[in-house]
Amino acid sequence: MEKNIKALKTIDYPSTVGENPKNQEVVLSVRNLAVSFHTDEGRVHAVRGVSFDLYKGETLCIVGESGSGKSVTSKTIMGILGASAHIDSGSITYEGEDLTKIAEDEFHRIRGTKIGMIFQDPLSSLNPIMRIGKQITEVMIINGNKVKKLRNEIINDALIKLKNDQRLLQISKEELRYAKKSKDKEVIASAKENAKKEKERLLPIIKEDRVVLRKKKKEANKKVREFKKKVLSIHREKEKEILANHSKKSWSDVYGDFIAEKRRYTSDLRVTHKEAKRRALKVMTEVGISDPERRFKQYPFEFSGGMRQRIVIAIALTADPEVLICDEPTTALDVTIQAQILELINKLKASRHMSVIFITHDLGVVANMADRVAVMYAGKIVEYGTAEDVFYHPAHPYTWALLSSIPDIDSKERLDAIPGTPPNMLFPPKGDAFALRSKYALGIDFKKEPPMFEISDSHYAATWLLDERAPLAEMPKIVSTRIKNSLRKAGGKHE
Ligand SMILES: Nc1ncnc2c1ncn2[C@@H]1O[C@H](COP(=O)(O)OP(=O)(O)OP(=O)(O)O)[C@@H](O)[C@H]1O
Ligand SMILES: [Mg+2]
Repeated sequence: MEKNIKALKTIDYPSTVGENPKNQEVVLSVRNLAVSFHTDEGRVHAVRGVSFDLYKGETLCIVGESGSGKSVTSKTIMGILGASAHIDSGSITYEGEDLTKIAEDEFHRIRGTKIGMIFQDPLSSLNPIMRIGKQITEVMIINGNKVKKLRNEIINDALIKLKNDQRLLQISKEELRYAKKSKDKEVIASAKENAKKEKERLLPIIKEDRVVLRKKKKEANKKVREFKKKVLSIHREKEKEILANHSKKSWSDVYGDFIAEKRRYTSDLRVTHKEAKRRALKVMTEVGISDPERRFKQYPFEFSGGMRQRIVIAIALTADPEVLICDEPTTALDVTIQAQILELINKLKASRHMSVIFITHDLGVVANMADRVAVMYAGKIVEYGTAEDVFYHPAHPYTWALLSSIPDIDSKERLDAIPGTPPNMLFPPKGDAFALRSKYALGIDFKKEPPMFEISDSHYAATWLLDERAPLAEMPKIVSTRIKNSLRKAGGKHE
């Protein structure tokens, strides 16, 4: 079973990772992403060149120890990094736009709703002094202005393009400022040259972007006027109808008809409180909250931890996201509740055709959730493949270490804790960052960073052990035995 794989080729990681053998639709594409934080002690290199694709309808699990850069990766996708963070390189492509180039507030206005996120601690995502119902409907009402929506739909692409190009200009200026700090003449000269070129290239483009945006705004204003006029004329017609029939009815019924029509008219223009409540109750039922009418009026403290996490999921769902990022959503919950929430996420993923990025440090959870797995260590993806690749043919010593550290329910084997601690990201180690903790480390691991070796068209790992010249290394016995056992249980279908 244990394949002593030696990869035949290495791949240019950022550009080709995820060769997408089955030609699946890519929803989100992260390339060569690097993020650092400015702190008093220096720069913390939290994410150092991460690349992956998220396919439509799949769950991609990102797994790794504390501090490996999982949350920073997901926060970068959401555009919620905070002021001390700097995106050093890379791109995140969603619907043809590079999200790293959109400023935080713009991102929320334009794209924020299509990518939803749920966090580890449901309490901190809920307002303790606001009724649950209001917390769910609030977002719907804010996003529910249909006139504004119509207008945004028309101008969004032009607006994003303008913001993108303005931001590119800004970035070249920032890079120059950054280069000046280095006090290296050559670096400064090249940054200056680059900033000048970018300015010459971008200024005319930005001017053109503005012209296009102005046109789109005009078009939007016209459409909005037409829309409002149409809605109003229907409203007037209905009022006339009510008046025409008034002789057959009592005055109080006629009055009631007018009020009902007024409500209907308002709901043509925006999501009303009534409509929001109806939808909130529906989504509460969808996430498994019984007696939603009563629950709607309660406060967060009246809910258990698991129920609160269901509410947080419900809030994320109200925007009807295409991508759901779950950052350790079950770590604060006990095991049975955890299993229920995981099952709920799986069910919602299937019924709503969402793509899920699921972040966890728990390989047991990964096994229940993942279609594909990315193993992260010290700000990098060190192994990447289908769940089957990573669980049955793990290739990176770090993945082996993770696999040996999960408790085995059947044999009650002792845990093999991973020795040592993750590196300090103020000073990321040279070469293979895991080498210091790995008994499989080779000399080269301390000098040169391993490339991504391609094991199959779905499976990659960054370890020198896969190089042709490397000595044969077998995965730890505890891991191979466990794989054999689980294969036996599965009837050998993976062999
Ligand atoms: N605002 C910040 N300022 C400075 N350093 C930060 C900041 N946020 C994160 N980091 C650092 O970035 C690195 C990656 O952090 P991240 O939160 O992504 O880890 P993680 O993989 O999500 O870990 P955990 O499992 O504990 O949630 C860590 O070294 C962390 O200390
Ligand atoms: Mg985290």
